[in-house]
Amino acid sequence: MVFGAPPPVGSDLPLGTGISIIVPTYQEVDNIPHLLKRLEVFRAQYDAPVEVLFMDDDSQDGSVEAVAAAGHDWARIITRTENRGLSQAVIEGFTQAKYPVLACMDCDLSHPPEALPQMVLGLRAGQQMVIGSRYVPGGSTDDDWGIGRWLNSLVATLLARPLTKVRDPMSGFFVLRKSDFEAADWLSPVGYKIALELIVKCGLENVGEVPIHFTDRVHGESKLTFKEQLKYIQHLRRLYLYKFSNMMYLAQFLVVGMSGVVVNLSVLSVLSVMGLPDWICLAGGIAVSIVTNFLLNRRFTFSYARDGAILRQFVSFVGACAFGMVVNYVVALTVRNNLGDDGTFTLQLAALAGIAAGMAFNFLGSRY
Ligand code: GDD
Repeated sequence: MVFGAPPPVGSDLPLGTGISIIVPTYQEVDNIPHLLKRLEVFRAQYDAPVEVLFMDDDSQDGSVEAVAAAGHDWARIITRTENRGLSQAVIEGFTQAKYPVLACMDCDLSHPPEALPQMVLGLRAGQQMVIGSRYVPGGSTDDDWGIGRWLNSLVATLLARPLTKVRDPMSGFFVLRKSDFEAADWLSPVGYKIALELIVKCGLENVGEVPIHFTDRVHGESKLTFKEQLKYIQHLRRLYLYKFSNMMYLAQFLVVGMSGVVVNLSVLSVLSVMGLPDWICLAGGIAVSIVTNFLLNRRFTFSYARDGAILRQFVSFVGACAFGMVVNYVVALTVRNNLGDDGTFTLQLAALAGIAAGMAFNFLGSRY
C-alpha cells in the first residue's frame, strides 16, 4: 500500500519508463559489491531500464575498482573532487541521470532496493515523491537503536514538521520525477537532508511514503557526525526562510528590535550611573541601540545583504529610522522632564515611552 493522496486517472510515467538510481558514496568499498548484487536482482525483475550511478567523493579506498570488477554496463562510478558532500553528490547524480525517474539510496544496505517498485508505483499513481519510510505503519528500524538515536531522529523530524507533513523527511531513500527535480530554481542543501531540501525547494505537496525496514549498516562506518547534525540546524533555518520568507524576516526583525530595547535601557542606565545628564543618557541609549540593531539585522535578518557596502547600508538604515528616532528622543526627554520629578517616570520608563512613541510613529508613517 502506498500512503498519501489517492492516484489520479492516467499516468505520465508509463510502464517501461527507466529509472536512474543515485548512490552517494564515501568509503563504501566493502558495501558496493553487496549492494550491486541486490540491485542486480532488482534490475532483473524490474519492468524498465535501470542505471546506477555511484557518486563518490574520491574515496580512494578501491571503490572505483569494486564497481569496475562487477562488470555491469548499467552501473558506473563517478569520482567527485569538488563541492563534496552527500547532498551535493546526489544533486550532481540527479543532474547526470539519463532516465525520467530518479531514485536516491544509501550504499550501506540500510535501504531495501526491493521497495523501489512499490515506490515507483506511487509516482505512477501521481505522487510527486515517494519516500522509503521508517515511520509509517509497517515501517521499522533495527532493534538496537538506543534511546539517544531514537530521540535524535524524533527531534530532527519534529523540527521539520512545519515544512512538511511527511513522517520520515530525514530518509535518504526516495524517488521523484527528473522533471520535478529540474523545476527547482535554487538548491542549496547543507548536510544530509536532501529529501527535505527537494520537498521544500521543488514545492512537492503530494509526497507518499512506503514502509521500509531500515537496517543498520554491517560494513564501514556512518559519516553522520555531530558536525553534520549541527549543519541540519543551519539547513532548517535556510528552509524556513525560504518557505516562510516574509514571516521569518518579520520575526527576526522583531527579535532584533527587542534586543535593541534591552541595549538601549542598559546603555542609558550605565550612563546614568556614571552621573551624566538625562539628555545624554537617552541619546546614548538610542544611538548604541541603532548601531546594534543595524549590525544584527545585517548579520541575521537581511543576511543576503552581508556582502554590500556597510557604510552605505548604515546610512540608509539610519535614514529609514531617523524620524522614529527623533520622536523617540523628544517624547522620552519630554516625559522625563515633565513627569520624572516625583519619581513616577524613571529614566528607563521615560525611555520606554519614547520607544513606544517612535514605533507608533514609524507604523503610522508606513501605512499607505
Ligand atoms: N559522496 C558522498 N559524500 N557520499 C557520502 C558522504 C559524502 O560526504 N557522506 C556520506 N555519504 C554516503 C555514504 O557513503 C552512504 O552511502 C550515504 O551517504 C549515507 O551516509 P551514512 O553515513 O551511512 O548515513 P547514516 O546511515 O548515518 O544516515 C542514514 O540515516 C539518515 C536518517 O537517519 C542515511 O540513510 C541518511 O540518508 C538518512 O538521512
